[in-house]
Amino acid sequence: VGDLKESDLKGKRVFVRVDLNVPLDENLNITDDTRVRAAVPTIKYLMERGARVILSSHLGRPKGVTPKYSLKPLVPRLSELLGVQVEMANDCIGEEVEKLVAAIPDGGVLLLENVRFHKEEEKNDPEFAKKLASLADLYVNDAFGSAHRAHASTEGVTKYLKPSVAGFLMQKELDYLVGAVSNPKKPFAAIVGGSKVSSKIGVIESLLEKVDILLLGGGMIFTFYKAQGYSVGSSLVEEDKLDLATTLLEKAKSKGVSLLLPTDVVIADKFAPDANSKTVSASSIPDGWMGLDIGPDAIKTFSESLDSTKTIIWNGPMGVFEFDKFATGTVAIAKKLAELSDKGVTTIIGGGDSVAAVEKAGLADKMSHISTGGGASLELLEGKPLPGVLALDDATSA
Ligand code: 3PG
Repeated sequence: VGDLKESDLKGKRVFVRVDLNVPLDENLNITDDTRVRAAVPTIKYLMERGARVILSSHLGRPKGVTPKYSLKPLVPRLSELLGVQVEMANDCIGEEVEKLVAAIPDGGVLLLENVRFHKEEEKNDPEFAKKLASLADLYVNDAFGSAHRAHASTEGVTKYLKPSVAGFLMQKELDYLVGAVSNPKKPFAAIVGGSKVSSKIGVIESLLEKVDILLLGGGMIFTFYKAQGYSVGSSLVEEDKLDLATTLLEKAKSKGVSLLLPTDVVIADKFAPDANSKTVSASSIPDGWMGLDIGPDAIKTFSESLDSTKTIIWNGPMGVFEFDKFATGTVAIAKKLAELSDKGVTTIIGGGDSVAAVEKAGLADKMSHISTGGGASLELLEGKPLPGVLALDDATSA
């Protein structure tokens, strides 16, 4: 979108797909507005050049029209951030919408209703995509979080609306998650956590081709421990992934990747915020206890191993950080990354729970990049092409 000139934009109707799929509480208040704020630079850029901005997004996974999945609660925050009154349509296609689009002044913004209120959206129905396309003169995709979906508003519409270009957020996500990861300043370290190996296999395998150091934390480590013959008590283990864990350890060795598992863990007598806890060596978790965080020795070794790095990507927490008692490892890693960021290390937080963890630690502003994608970041880190990116004329990667 940065390549578009003022003459390309003045008075033009621009269909901007954003990802406003934000969490709402029971009173429909936004509980995390990160995605709304992340969408602002592209919208402002278009407004300032006199474009007529048509915003489209999904919210949740509604089956048909469902009031609690309306995008209406987004209007006040969007208006506040953009400094204009954002108008809201009751649908995303049809005559009423066409009238509202025709009434958008230069520099004005209209938010269309949840595009998933039409089942044709997820089916990527060509007729529906054509109707969306007919509303505008050009298409901007800034919905990185939805770029792994080949839906009508993220993919199909590009066939009928040219040019189709990437917004600033989309481009920034690609620059970091593809650019910095495939062409990193070395040494390059990845920290992968989260509860299950099964959901991170693709990411670990892909990163093993690129990194010098791989640190593993979170619930997935117990599958690795068990594969090495350690007693893991009642920790989470994916029995059907034991062989895979061994294979990944061997693969790291053969690639010369320094793969570190935590040397100690914080264990609990139950899965609860008020559980009794103690720190033990990774190889001696007693029966009846489960590991819920990495221990102080692991924090020290992990931190030291990161000292020499120039690029770090982090995906997945080190422990059950939702419980304060077991958030120490995750917070310590977040602090270490913040410290290294200050020293010029590129720090990339690759989506999902690790983003929530960094935000909980109050360190979000410190990182080089915090992804707004969950599934999209994961697929990109696995090396998969994203349909919403492939469909664009100008996105520089994937
Ligand atoms: C997300 O929150 O990951 C995106 O908005 C995509 O949502 P979806 O998983 O419902 O397609």
